[in-house]
Amino acid sequence: MNSKSPILLFDSGVGGLTVLAELRELLPEAPVIYAADMAGLPYGTKSEAEVAARVAGLLGRMAERYEPRLICIACNTASTIALGMVREVLETPIVGTVPAIKPAAAITETGTIGLLGTEATVRQQYVDDLENRFAEGKRLLRYGANGLVALGERKLRGEEVTVDEVASAASGLVLQPGGENLDTVVLACTHFPLLEPELREAFGKDVKFVHGAQGIARRIDHLLSGQKFSRWSKSFAVTTGELQDFERLSGAFEQYGISSLRRF
Ligand code: SIN
Repeated sequence: MNSKSPILLFDSGVGGLTVLAELRELLPEAPVIYAADMAGLPYGTKSEAEVAARVAGLLGRMAERYEPRLICIACNTASTIALGMVREVLETPIVGTVPAIKPAAAITETGTIGLLGTEATVRQQYVDDLENRFAEGKRLLRYGANGLVALGERKLRGEEVTVDEVASAASGLVLQPGGENLDTVVLACTHFPLLEPELREAFGKDVKFVHGAQGIARRIDHLLSGQKFSRWSKSFAVTTGELQDFERLSGAFEQYGISSLRRF
């Protein structure tokens, strides 16, 4: 590791930009490689075995090629399935993204919390454990809203996304018994905060949204405190998918100082 070593931010798509936005506030100088597994997107509809094998394989190759000082798995689906396993095989420090159930449980007034994630995330044992640890005595309603992933991707490509589309993709949450009492919703997929204005309109103003991007950025900042960053080392983004498609996202990346997009 040297002052040029980057932070590797990994996601299936552009959801990790919600983490990068927060990280830029704390570590504006840090060289970041944003890695999007666009060829594997979406993860939320895949089996656990498939996600685990993909994430472990890609992160292993990326760690070898880019020698990052830290890896952030900026994807709830990948983190809840593969974090433990990847930590066992890689020596690089790894920060994961886990559903923000603890802060949600601290602010709910009705005691009914919603959890919007992908189908793969909401059924994980990892989520059961967080619920048992942090939401005792609360009611946690879970809903796998896979459709929101594509809507978040579309929005960042500059395509129109309507409140009706977002409402319909998330409506299964409130339609569950007890859904009328929800006052706090955990956005347990890094793509979903990209749709927060639309979700806010769809759910109404009394519902609070909670996600982990800020906490993850703070954790990375803490782990890297005291480390130096070379100003000669540039940030860039890589995709496992088609470069032409990735380039349609150049505006979104430029906001965070990333102007070079490449194929992995
Ligand atoms: C997906 O690829 O389905 C979204 C990943 C996430 O949970 O952030």
